[in-house]
Amino acid sequence: MKNDYISEIHEKDKLVLHPYEDLKDRGTYNRKLIVKSDNIYLYDENGKRYIDGPGGMWCNNIGHGNKEIAEAIKNQIETMDYCSPFSESSEKAAELASVLSELSPGDLNTVFFTPDGSSANETALRFMMLYNNILGRPEKKHIISRDRAYHGSTYLTASITGKDREKNNFDFESTFIHHVGSPNPYRRKDNQTVDDFCDEKVKEFEDKILEIGPNKVAAYIAEPVLASGGCIVPPKNYIKRFWEICKKHDILYISDEVVTGFGRLGHFFCSQEEFGIIPDIITSAKGITSGYIPLGAVLISDRLMKSISKDSSLFFHGFTYSGHPVSCAAALKNIEIIKRDKILDHVKNIAPYFHQKLKTLYEIPIVGDVRGMGLMAGIECVIDKDSKNPLILDQAIASRIDEESLKLGLIIRPIYHICVLSPALIIQKEQVDDLVDKLYQAISNATKKLEKEGLWSG
Ligand SMILES: Cc1ncc(COP(=O)(O)O)c(C=O)c1O
Repeated sequence: MKNDYISEIHEKDKLVLHPYEDLKDRGTYNRKLIVKSDNIYLYDENGKRYIDGPGGMWCNNIGHGNKEIAEAIKNQIETMDYCSPFSESSEKAAELASVLSELSPGDLNTVFFTPDGSSANETALRFMMLYNNILGRPEKKHIISRDRAYHGSTYLTASITGKDREKNNFDFESTFIHHVGSPNPYRRKDNQTVDDFCDEKVKEFEDKILEIGPNKVAAYIAEPVLASGGCIVPPKNYIKRFWEICKKHDILYISDEVVTGFGRLGHFFCSQEEFGIIPDIITSAKGITSGYIPLGAVLISDRLMKSISKDSSLFFHGFTYSGHPVSCAAALKNIEIIKRDKILDHVKNIAPYFHQKLKTLYEIPIVGDVRGMGLMAGIECVIDKDSKNPLILDQAIASRIDEESLKLGLIIRPIYHICVLSPALIIQKEQVDDLVDKLYQAISNATKKLEKEGLWSG
């Protein structure tokens, strides 16, 4: 790219209000332009190559630059680009619904397509409201979510999200939304065992239901592994015990598999295969097309559908892009590639190596916790390993690490004092080595700078 053209694009980009941008800084700096992508790599306007550590936004599952997906998208556009899902059907949406119902656990056979993950979660919650209204219990509408959870950016999904609310000038719904604590075992009390910590979380959840009233609590929504909350893996049996409590009190269990679905934990859906539960509803997006094109899907159990389908009632909910044929064609090809190339087996094989290699980061004094599951990881930085106090200074440490890692050719996702990673599922051992070596160097460099500036001492 010529320098003049790059400057022109940078200027034009200042018209864009980017997600999660600080309004004060808007238009004052040039963002890195990504102009090319391939395998696990992204390339900037100067031709510099970066490992895409977060896999885009937890979505680039089969790797960048896949020509087969490009071909599937092109073919679909040339054959039939769009038809209204409100009045017609398309071959690809029907085929994809059939594949998803095969891949999903239990009786989750009804598929509602959405444009993305937020609208998938919004749909699941609106469905819950419709369900209880039809069943004649309009008071059963309360939703329980968790601190550190992320479920989207619509009004309702942002309200159930459990992150950063205090720093936020947006409005949130609060009359029927409740949060319980996040299940981060690293943040358990001193001298508390992980089992006791788990018991405490389970008790907190059931106490919350009893406090609100089981007749009012309609749904619990949870990511199996909290992704942007800092890659939090709950203790063993935590998920199953929450699910059992939901069943006991007739509360819908909504599993938000927007990140964990389509291979990130080595399964198409992890709820049953990894955690032994069959949710009432699963939401998915991102990896369903490996991020090549937007799509989300809500999988609803036959049991729920049957119980509300006796009398006539309009399902008064839908999006222009529900089941967009081009997105569905991309998803079908993506799933075909995941199966054909045995990508789930590859994730199961390489994930232990990825986590073992990441453990070397413990050698660095500010690294307090290295955790994760499948190809998801979080590295939590602390002032010292004993106190575990988060390393949050003038500028959050993860942003400093991000600055250093960019110099070395690695993109990470900085979340205050936590760096999160979710590389493409096709990552190979040498690429894992390269990624972790770069991260090691970046954290070490950021630590040295903190020491030099007198902001931290080891
Ligand atoms: C767990 C989870 N749910 C839902 C969403 C929202 O998805 P989208 O950004 O596609 O609307 C995200 C996005 O990061 C997510 O991580």
